[in-house]
Amino acid sequence: MKKVAVIFWSGTGNTEKMAEAVAEGAREAGAEVKLLPVEKATKDDVLSADALALGCPSMGAEVLEEEEMEPFVEEIEKENIKDKPMILFGSYDWGDGQWMKDWEERMKSAGVNLLDDGLIVQNTPDDFGLNLCKELGKKTV
Ligand SMILES: Cc1cc2nc3c(=O)[nH]c(=O)nc-3n(C[C@H](O)[C@H](O)[C@H](O)COP(=O)(O)O)c2cc1C
Repeated sequence: MKKVAVIFWSGTGNTEKMAEAVAEGAREAGAEVKLLPVEKATKDDVLSADALALGCPSMGAEVLEEEEMEPFVEEIEKENIKDKPMILFGSYDWGDGQWMKDWEERMKSAGVNLLDDGLIVQNTPDDFGLNLCKELGKKTV
């Protein structure tokens, strides 16, 4: 069974709802899924996973959340994540999604195998958005 780690940061729960739907999609597709807020995730969770789903809203001015998610991404960039299958997702509000474009480029530079475009949902995901999350989750398997 494929192991998928869904690791996210969420301040007000929007990206968390996306993470739950991504996890549900991966489970439906047959994966063994670990769903972890980033403060509980370790680099072993990353290295032992066959595929990773990382979620973070747009924070600061179009950047990742800086206290927990940014250091975590920096930590895993130093590990051997070349060719690791990965998807990215997150919620935003008033911006144009630039944080996600930057994050995608950064992960590509780290050599990961991005399985799809990063999925962005404005504010709280509705049923349509949650379904996109589920479909994205299925791609990890
Ligand atoms: C401190 C702070 C900074 C933010 N910066 C941006 C931003 O640069 N661009 C944007 O589109 N949304 C920005 N937002 C809005 C959040 O991305 C949006 O509220 C999102 O739904 C939060 O997701 P969460 O519920 O998972 O925390 C910001 C929100 C906060 C609290």
